[in-house]
Amino acid sequence: MNTLAASSCFRFRSRPALLLAIPVALALLAAGCRDEEKPTAAATTDAASPWPAVAWPLAEDPALEKRIDELMAKMTVEEKVGQIVQGDIASLTPEDVRKYRLGSVLAGGNSDPGGKYNATPAQWLALADAFYEASMDTSTGGKAIPILFGIDAVHGQSNIVGATLFPHNIGLGATRNPDLMEKIGKVTAVETRTTGMEWAFAPTVAVPQDDRWGRTYEGYSESPEVVASFAGRMVEGLQGKAGAPDFLDGSHVMVSVKHFLGDGGTTGGKDQGDTKISEAELARIHNAGYPPAIAAGAQTVMASFNSVNGEKMHGNRHLLTEVLKGRMNFGGFVVGDWNGHGQVKGCTNDNCPATIVAGLDMAMAPDSWKGFYETAVAAVKAGTLPMERLDDAVRRILRVKFRLGLFEAGKPSQRPLGGKFELLGAPEHRAVARQAVRESLVLLKNQGGVLPLDPHKNILVAGDGANDVGKQSGGWTLNWQGTGTTRADYPNADSIWEGLQAQVKAAGGKAELAVDGKYKQKPDAAIVVFGENPYAEFQGDIATLLYNPGNDSDLELIKRLKADGIPVVAVFLSGRPLWMNREINAADAFVAAWLPGSEGEGIADVLLRKSDGGVQHDFKGKLGFSWPRTAVQYANNVGQKDYDPQFAFGFGLTYADKGDLAPLPEDSGVSGEQSASGVFFAKGKPSVGLALQLSSASQANMPATTMPAALADGSLKLSAVDYKAQEDARRLQWSGSTAAKLALASGTPLDISRESNGDVQLQLTLRRDSAITAPVWLGVGCGEGCSGRVDLHKTLAALPQGQWKVVGVPLKCFVKAGADVSKLTQVPVLESAAALDLSVSRIALGALNEAEATADCPVQ
Ligand code: BGC
Ligand code: BGC
Repeated sequence: MNTLAASSCFRFRSRPALLLAIPVALALLAAGCRDEEKPTAAATTDAASPWPAVAWPLAEDPALEKRIDELMAKMTVEEKVGQIVQGDIASLTPEDVRKYRLGSVLAGGNSDPGGKYNATPAQWLALADAFYEASMDTSTGGKAIPILFGIDAVHGQSNIVGATLFPHNIGLGATRNPDLMEKIGKVTAVETRTTGMEWAFAPTVAVPQDDRWGRTYEGYSESPEVVASFAGRMVEGLQGKAGAPDFLDGSHVMVSVKHFLGDGGTTGGKDQGDTKISEAELARIHNAGYPPAIAAGAQTVMASFNSVNGEKMHGNRHLLTEVLKGRMNFGGFVVGDWNGHGQVKGCTNDNCPATIVAGLDMAMAPDSWKGFYETAVAAVKAGTLPMERLDDAVRRILRVKFRLGLFEAGKPSQRPLGGKFELLGAPEHRAVARQAVRESLVLLKNQGGVLPLDPHKNILVAGDGANDVGKQSGGWTLNWQGTGTTRADYPNADSIWEGLQAQVKAAGGKAELAVDGKYKQKPDAAIVVFGENPYAEFQGDIATLLYNPGNDSDLELIKRLKADGIPVVAVFLSGRPLWMNREINAADAFVAAWLPGSEGEGIADVLLRKSDGGVQHDFKGKLGFSWPRTAVQYANNVGQKDYDPQFAFGFGLTYADKGDLAPLPEDSGVSGEQSASGVFFAKGKPSVGLALQLSSASQANMPATTMPAALADGSLKLSAVDYKAQEDARRLQWSGSTAAKLALASGTPLDISRESNGDVQLQLTLRRDSAITAPVWLGVGCGEGCSGRVDLHKTLAALPQGQWKVVGVPLKCFVKAGADVSKLTQVPVLESAAALDLSVSRIALGALNEAEATADCPVQ
C-alpha cells in the first residue's frame, strides 16, 4: 500500500467507532484503504497477482499532510466537491470558478480562448491568469485553492501557435531512444509553462494491438516492452526526477498517464470499445507503461473510455482502486476522460457519483460540470457518495497542488516561464524535435541504393504531403482533428519540401516543388510525400488497412514518374502501418515517416547526402509496429503465435544494408468495397450497407438506385450532378406540392453514441440552388418516437446560392431533439414541404472546425 494513502487510511482506522458504520467501511475500500488484518479478495491473491507492486517514489510528508488537514477542516462539502470537478474552457468561465470553486479546468482539443484555434500565446496566458485569479479570489466566499489547468500537450504544446511539434508517439517509438524521450518531455514542459498551464494530458502509454484504431499513432509501440522503456522517461522529462530539487517546479508540468486501462486492446480497434481479455494479459500487455510511470512519480492517471470485459473503466473499482491505487501504490489522483463517467451504467454526464465511488478522483465534465457538481453535492448529503471517499479524492488532489507549489506560485504569468514566448519553437527545442524526426524514419526499401540522394542534382518534390505542415503534424495539432490549418499557423516549422529545398539549394543543386508531379524540368530523382490526412480518436477508426480506399492517385503519381524514367523515393506519412505493397513495389525507396511534426527538415537530413558525398545521418528507426502483409492483417503483433507480417517488428534498413526487395504480392485481401467509417455518402454513392430512399405521404421508402429517380407524385426528384468529378453528387428537387424526404437507410442499426459525445457534427457538403424561406429538416431516425431533427433553413438561406459549402449540425442537437443515436436506421433524413433545389456531394461525420456553417440547435 502506498505510504500516503496509508497515512489517510491510518487516520480513519484510528477512529474505531467510525469503522463500525458500514458506509464508512465501504468508503475505506473505495478509497483504496484495506484493513491489513482482514485482507480483501484482492489482497489474498497478491502472491499470484499479475499486477506488480510498485514503489511510489515520494516519501510521506507530514508537513504537507498537516497543511492539507488544516485546509480540509475548513472546507464545506460544496468546496470539496468543487475540487473534484473539471470543466472545459468552452463551457466554463472564471466567474463560474469563483462561484463554484472548481478544482480544475481543461482546454479540450477544440476549445480555445475566444473560440479561435489559432489564438495567440498571450491570449492563452491571459486566460490561465483569469482562471487562476478566480480560484484565489475569496471576495464572494470560499477558500483560496489554486486551480489546475490541463491541456493536451501530447506532441509538444501542440495546441499553441508557434510551439515545437514533436513527432507523434508512433514515430518516437521507432527511435527506440528513451534518453530522447526525457529531452522531449522537458522541452514540452517548458513550452507548456510559457502559456500558463501546469498539466499535460500525456504521455499516452496505450499498447495498440489493432492498427485500425484511430489512436494507434498516440501509442509508442505494439510492444509492451518498448512502451515500458519510454513511459518512465517521458514522465521524468515532463515532471522532473522525483526527489530532485526541480521536481514539479516552474519549469516542469505534471503528467496524465493515459488511458487506464486497456485502451489499445478493444475489439476491432474500435475507439472507446470493449477490451475482452484475461487479467493476466491485461496486466502483461496494456499495463506495461504504468509501473515505470508510477515509479517515476506520475501525479495523475487518466481513466479510459473503454470497457474491460464489458465494464466501463470509469466505473471499474477493482482496477482503479484495488489495482492502481492499492496494489500499484499510485499516490497521485485519477482524472476522468471527456464525459467518460457518463458512459458508466446508470450514469449520465450530469450525474455519476458511482465513478467517484469506483475510484475516480476528478471528473472531466467539460460541458456537464454544473450538473455533475450539483448531483455530487446531493449524493454526499444523501450518503451515496461517502464523505470519506470524497475526502480521499480531495486530499489526493490537494497533495498534487501542494507538490506543484501552486499555493505559492502566484498567477501563471508571474511564474518563472510565464510569458517567455520566445521559448515556443526556440531553436534549441526545434533541434531536439529534428533529431527525433531523423531517428524516427524507418527505411523499408532502398533498391539499388537509390538513397541517399545527391543534393547537387535536380530533385523533384511531389505529393500532397510535401508542403503541408498540418498534414505532416497529424491530429491534436492546433485543434482536435488537426484539420483546416494554414501555413501561417506554423511560424516555427519547416515543411518537408522546405527542408529539402534549403539543403539542395545550399549544396548548389536544383529543387522543384510540384505537388501533382508535373515538373517543368525533368529531374534526376523524385521524392513523393503522401499519406493519411489528419484525424484523431474515433474519427480515425478505419475498416481495413487499405490506404485511401477507392483513390489510387498517389500510386498513379509514383507510377507516372517511374514511367518517365525517374527514380522515385516514397515518403509515407501515416498514423499507423497500412497495406502499402503496391506503392512499395512501384517506388525505388520507401520510407515510413509517421507524423513528424514541425521539423520537416529532419527528413532532408537523412535522405540527402552531404555535399562531399558522405552520409549526413543514417537511418536509425526500427518498426515499433509490425507492417502488414495484407490490408486485413489488422492485429498481427510481435510475439503472437501466427505472427507473419510483411516487415517484422524491429525491421528498419540502414545505409549499410542492401536495400533491394523482390516484388511483394499485390493482393490486398479485401473483398468488396469497404467504407470509410463515419462517411455515409460520398462520390455519388451511399456507403456500404446504406441505401438512398425517397418518401412522401403517397409512397414510402422508394429505393433510388438508378438516376434519375422520382416519386410518382412528383414531389421529389433525384438526379446526378458533378461537383469535383463526374456524377459525384446528387441534385434534389422538391416541387413543393407535398412534403417529401430523402433518407439514407441502413439495414443494420448504426450506433453513433460515442461520436455524439463532444462537438462532432453531421456534415453535408452541399450547394443551394434556390431561395429558401420555409423549414428544411435534417434529421436522424430509428422509427417512431426515436427520431430527432433540426430545421436548417436559416443556415442554408445564409449560404451563397450556387456555391458548395460544408454545413454541419452537432450530433448533440439530434440527441436534444429526441433521437436515440445508439440504433439509427436513417442517417440522415432530409425533408421539405416547400419547393427547394439542393445538391449534395458528401454526408459524413466531421469536426466543428471542418464546417463552413454550423446550425445551432433550433430543436423542434
Ligand atoms: C481524449 C483524451 C484527452 C481529452 C481532453 C478525450 O476525448 O480521449 O485523450 O486528453 O479528450 O481533450
Ligand atoms: C474535444 C476533445 C475531446 C472530444 C471527445 C472534442 O469536442 O475537443 O478534446 O477529446 O470532443 O469526444
